Amino acid sequence: DNLFTSVMTLTKMRVPHVPQRYVLPPSQRPNLTLDLTTTLPIIDLSTLHHASQRSLTLDTIQGACKELGFFQVVNHGIPLPVIHDALAAATEFFNLSLEEKMSLLSDNVHNPVRYGTSLNHASDKVHYWRDFIKHYSHPISDWIHLWPSNPPSYKDKMGNYAKAVQVLHKQLMEAILETLGLNFGNLQKEIEEGNQLMAINCYPACPEPDLTLGMPPHSDYGTLTVLLQSGPGLQLQDNKKKWLSVPFVEGALLVQLGDQIEVMSNGQYKSVVHQVTLSAENKRLSIASLHSLPINKKIGPAPELVDEQHPVSYNEFSFRDFLNYISSNDIADKRFIDSIK
Ligand code: SIN
Ligand code: FE2
Repeated sequence: DNLFTSVMTLTKMRVPHVPQRYVLPPSQRPNLTLDLTTTLPIIDLSTLHHASQRSLTLDTIQGACKELGFFQVVNHGIPLPVIHDALAAATEFFNLSLEEKMSLLSDNVHNPVRYGTSLNHASDKVHYWRDFIKHYSHPISDWIHLWPSNPPSYKDKMGNYAKAVQVLHKQLMEAILETLGLNFGNLQKEIEEGNQLMAINCYPACPEPDLTLGMPPHSDYGTLTVLLQSGPGLQLQDNKKKWLSVPFVEGALLVQLGDQIEVMSNGQYKSVVHQVTLSAENKRLSIASLHSLPINKKIGPAPELVDEQHPVSYNEFSFRDFLNYISSNDIADKRFIDSIK
């Protein structure tokens, strides 16, 4: 595909304007002058291990899940050097020549490892200012041989981070299911055998950040997304549909609720709609670890959360159903979760 152009390539060429294919209709452009920053709850996860503090922390998590579907965690158990190594591996990968990265180029969403740009360079009507490498990551021995072999330290550094996040996801799920009054034991095996898709994103500095986005508004399909970012740029939509910038806290990780939790909770919790804005000065990297139950597992509202006052509000769906949906629909036009209500 010799029409392929990464955003990193455009940046190296120092284009003074964003090419027309990146220009969004005015109604979809970000408002960068009126920047409202949200205060996100910061959860100290070490308190979950102390009987006297656990229930207060669970209350805070529950509040965040009901209100925004989004919170930050500190003392999450992932050492800072592991985090810095993962970001360093990502930086080195995107700095490789385009030719090198193209060996992993794919527009097939079912492919377990793929490099690309925008959402899907082959089918996007409007392009987004993002390059990415995505790979399945759990169990790691099934997939790591398919990961980039350059830079040579990539597999080690990204692998250490992937394994640590997998452990963190399980702890977070245990806490969140408890706040819903659901039995973790019933789902433990499926959580442990679930899918982990890592999306490593690169958003180079953009000459005209008010005309375009790094990612359009969407919610994630899975249970939880654990997000590591190198700087600000992420925005979330609050329950009044207002865009709020997410503060950047060094060493903290962001936790986003996905559609599988919204469905399981029968709507008590909401998956958070988010988008990525750009900066004229700074490149931003992010590593999103998207977790879901096993790829073919259908998830519906938990029977414990359904009664006469709370009838079933969603149809069942699996991660596979989501992949099939996005290969024939534009998520920038219609949210997947609205198709199963
Ligand atoms: C994403 O929504 O997958 C990317 C989030 C980010 O780059 O912060
Ligand atoms: Fe996302």
